[in-house]
Amino acid sequence: KILPVLLSGGSGTRLWPLSRENYPKQFLPLTGGGSLLQETWKRVERVAEAAPLVVANEEHRFLAAEQLREVGAAPQAVILEPVGRNTAPAIALAALQALQSGEDALLLVLPTDHVVADVPAFHAAVAGARASAEAGRLVTFGILPSAPETGYGYIRSAPGEGVREVLEFVEKPDAATAAGYVDSGDYAWNSGMFLFGAQRYLDALGQYRPDILAAVRVAFEQAARDADFVRVPKDLFAACPSESIDYAVMEKTDSASVLPVDVGWSDIGSWSALWAITPRDADGNAHADDVIAIDSRNTYVHADKLVVTIGLDDVVVVDTPDALLVADRSQVQKVKDAVAQLKDGT
Ligand code: GDD
Ligand code: MG
Repeated sequence: KILPVLLSGGSGTRLWPLSRENYPKQFLPLTGGGSLLQETWKRVERVAEAAPLVVANEEHRFLAAEQLREVGAAPQAVILEPVGRNTAPAIALAALQALQSGEDALLLVLPTDHVVADVPAFHAAVAGARASAEAGRLVTFGILPSAPETGYGYIRSAPGEGVREVLEFVEKPDAATAAGYVDSGDYAWNSGMFLFGAQRYLDALGQYRPDILAAVRVAFEQAARDADFVRVPKDLFAACPSESIDYAVMEKTDSASVLPVDVGWSDIGSWSALWAITPRDADGNAHADDVIAIDSRNTYVHADKLVVTIGLDDVVVVDTPDALLVADRSQVQKVKDAVAQLKDGT
């Protein structure tokens, strides 16, 4: 059975000032429809063979519950992490929860802060990965890389059609290495979406990171359950090492497979990435109706008031009640520097 696992615990700050620690990207309606979490839910409804699991941070429980209710979502459980310990432990919690039913489901692990524009192609991809996952492979979905981004996992696979064996998985290489990978044409980006058996994942985690598996098991056994949430105790979960599935398992295992997909994927890792997937006027400006763009090209404007831009090229303007971002579109990655300064209080 395919059991979607919606990972909603990240605290992405690259879309500051819209995304905040208490209001991360997955809860924002960035693409015109519902929030990214809600859109993710709608996208999996068709392929889910068991009610999905949601794993979120305790801090966002009301936000998550309210947004799920709005789209009529009825998750099997919403698992709350008292602290973020990255994706390896989060997926382990979901696997343990899934196995409680006594059945070993195929976990369709999905980030909730991504965009997938071609939903039918996504459904086809899940169907295409199924047999390999049933055969015990840890299947990831590969994306054709368009730039030497350093924020992604890179996958080199055996030649062939459909699902192939992963020969090498390198999480977040440095810029020179990434450039070499993209130039070679031999690598795909890891999309962060996975399909594998729940027990199979726990076995792999136990093989490479028994410390993480042990810590998650102990915390999960002590979880408090009520009608709305599975609450993992803070002291126990905080003791779990923080690591992503990519470093903990995918880089190490020899049981990984990849299915290259073309599903209109974007992880909206920056304002520039959001600009790229937003409908634009003839001059390349992406903005709401209440913007007047004069002699302006390739701008992105988000504001709750009338905005006039004159003679601006490649500029991002994001206005919120307490903070305003004005940035060169080619330098929006530096938003993280601003967020770091804010956190320092400097
Ligand atoms: N529940 C939970 N708990 N979810 C989490 C946690 C956590 O502690 N940490 C992250 N997530 C969620 C995020 O909300 C996001 O939806 C997803 O897991 C991936 O986490 P990111 O923090 O965004 O990972 P990344 O972008 O650095 O890298 C991953 O995604 C890339 C593609 O976007 C990796 O899988 C890369 O290999 C991949 O290329
Ligand atoms: Mg990400």
